Amino acid sequence: MKCTRCKKQAEVELKSHNAAFCRECFNYFFLNQVQKAIKTFKMFSKKDRVLVAVSGGKDSLALWDALLSLGYNADGLFIYLGIEGFSNVALTKVRKFASERGAKLIEVNLTNEGLAIPKVKEKTRRVVCSLCGQIKRYYFNMVGLKNNYDVLATGHNLDDEVSRLFSNVLHWKMDYLKEQSPALPSEDGLLKKVKPLFRLTEFETSAYAFFKKIDYVDISCPFSKGATFTIYKKHLNSIEYHSPGTKIDFYQGFLKKLKPILEESKKEKKNLCKICGYPTYSDVCSICRLKGLS
Ligand code: AMP
Ligand code: FES
Ligand code: ZN
Repeated sequence: MKCTRCKKQAEVELKSHNAAFCRECFNYFFLNQVQKAIKTFKMFSKKDRVLVAVSGGKDSLALWDALLSLGYNADGLFIYLGIEGFSNVALTKVRKFASERGAKLIEVNLTNEGLAIPKVKEKTRRVVCSLCGQIKRYYFNMVGLKNNYDVLATGHNLDDEVSRLFSNVLHWKMDYLKEQSPALPSEDGLLKKVKPLFRLTEFETSAYAFFKKIDYVDISCPFSKGATFTIYKKHLNSIEYHSPGTKIDFYQGFLKKLKPILEESKKEKKNLCKICGYPTYSDVCSICRLKGLS
């Protein structure tokens, strides 16, 4: 198999793009896809201060690497979740990545906030993963706003977005569908949020991380076993295998055909939490309630 771009020996085949690439051309393709996402959705410019939420996994570290390679002003934010055997490994990898590149890293330790995930798990009967996601988003926003960043970027890839879309459509979660987008503008109390890897699959981010020798955490969170999205991803991969290009078509179709209709319908007005100022539908946001502040 020859590289579609330079005709040297190819190392990766991308059936959905009807292409194959050598290592060098694959990295060029990857950065091009990131750049295309940033431009199409007006995510940020070279003048903006970007805060990249990095978990230590392949996607967010590949994203941070890509943004630095493309010359963006990108700092990292790591939330230490306090999960034994998992959080320390992630922290070490993220620190190593930042120091090798001389990049700035902000760290938040949830143990100091009274919100270490194992403790939260003991306190509530709700599924800890969804609470953990809520807590992370809260700190992404707060740290970004406090430190005057223009935008918060996460490492969600095409597989994440497609499985989320699939789940939202299966259950017709209209409010979630309205909020699903590669770029969410800033609002009162909310920092702009973007997903520059939304055009790239998990396979493609893994290949990029491998070619760029990024040292990432490849153990998964002990609480995330059997998550529904993992099952959806498996089925969507099987569809993609039989019909390459389905994932990107499904997602792009949503963005082009359904999103404009959804955007016309009015959103419910949010209040600001009377304790911390985070947007909420009630008086006090769920994180302040979890901390026992109300
Ligand atoms: P997940 O929900 O674990 O699939 O993560 C989605 C995205 O959230 C990742 O690509 C990161 O950008 C970000 N993220 C997840 N966990 C953390 C963390 N502990 N600290 C900072 N960012 C995170
Ligand atoms: Fe949050 Fe697993 S990463 S519960
Ligand atoms: Zn090539």
